[in-house]
Amino acid sequence: MVMFEADGARQETMRSDVYPRHGMMAGATHDELAAQKFFLGLRAYANGRLMAKCIDACNNQVMPEMGERDPEVEEDRSEALRKSEEMPIFQNWGALLRTSQELMWDYVADTVDRQLDNLEDKFRAIKDPVGSLTLHPELPNPEYLTLVDQHIQPGGYLHDAGGEDVRAGAIYDRGAVLYGLGRAGGLNDMRSHTLCAFIQDGFPEMKPRRILDLGCGVGHGTLALTDLFPEAEVHAIDIGGAMLRYAHARAESLGKPVHFHQQDARHLKFENESFDMVTSEILFHETSRTAMPAILKEARRVLKPGGAMCNLEVPLRYKGMDMGAVVVRDWQNYYNAEPFWGSLGCVDIEQAMREAGFARVLTGFQPRTGNFQGERGRLSEKDPSMGNLSHWMVFGGYKDQER
Ligand SMILES: C[S@@+](CC[C@H](N)C(=O)[O-])C[C@H]1O[C@@H](n2cnc3c(N)ncnc32)[C@H](O)[C@@H]1O
Repeated sequence: MVMFEADGARQETMRSDVYPRHGMMAGATHDELAAQKFFLGLRAYANGRLMAKCIDACNNQVMPEMGERDPEVEEDRSEALRKSEEMPIFQNWGALLRTSQELMWDYVADTVDRQLDNLEDKFRAIKDPVGSLTLHPELPNPEYLTLVDQHIQPGGYLHDAGGEDVRAGAIYDRGAVLYGLGRAGGLNDMRSHTLCAFIQDGFPEMKPRRILDLGCGVGHGTLALTDLFPEAEVHAIDIGGAMLRYAHARAESLGKPVHFHQQDARHLKFENESFDMVTSEILFHETSRTAMPAILKEARRVLKPGGAMCNLEVPLRYKGMDMGAVVVRDWQNYYNAEPFWGSLGCVDIEQAMREAGFARVLTGFQPRTGNFQGERGRLSEKDPSMGNLSHWMVFGGYKDQER
């Protein structure tokens, strides 16, 4: 069934069978599902036709008055955003997008809270796990994660009531289905299949025996790695305790052997040269200017010589974009509690990898796939998705020798 046209493409509505099915997913009632589908329609409209009008308004009404400006210069794009916000079309779009985001979390939290006791019971009932969970609740939280609730998720990634608390993970998992506008994949793993495709194409000789996934959240990116490398021992870290409890219970419900640890990616507790591959998936845009290089260096430290780091990120490159397209993305910094969003759009990824000591760096845009074992498109240099997530930014490199 087709509901809206967004980004010029016809968009599928979410059917109930599109919802990921595993033992920990909080199931929605008929009415909750109806509300969540309403959100999807609203969101597709705001991010589709309405956003296109805002981009045009910025380019055709604001920019001619501002003169020559560079979208990669923070002051220029901040000024363009301020001026764009004076226009009613921009105000309407912003209000609708912000409201829809708040609605989404409200809907999802209702669904999760109604059955939270049950989810915690499932965590408590895990017996003979094939993986493991090691928590370090005493770890200090990275300051950048304490400043805002990321993408307005209530409590962000860090809220943890201790005990069997799995709420942050349950909300993230169900929210991710909606956030992906129904294009998140059967296990919310479209992105991780896309990362696996990049690893297969870009690093074909890699046969890692030990893998570490950084900023794993609830394990959306981690589990497909166990399918790509079934012989490998897979470890995954995140800073959020309630995210990790949920991740562990989710992986166990699917019979996937993953060792989850509560650690800070900037200061890993693992030995030097203890992994063959380090991965991350949509981690860096949730960090900061100083955390990103620290994490890259730390990843290199724990890699064995010859090992590789492979990452997938939001397709956010401001170079070569027009100012209208940039300001609607920069909007996320201020109104969707994504403070590093715009800055990441301007980071020279290749240089960041080289500065961290990686060699033979490969960057590009990988076509989205829900099945890394099937047919798929090839890596491209430019982002052909125009923001509709048909491609994801990927980057990787090798630890060739000690520096
Ligand atoms: C957008 S989520 C991505 C989660 C998962 N990789 C996925 O694909 O769904 C970013 C995750 O990075 C984690 N994170 C951010 N900074 C971190 C740090 N310094 N150390 C460990 N985890 C971190 C957050 O707690 C959050 O779970």
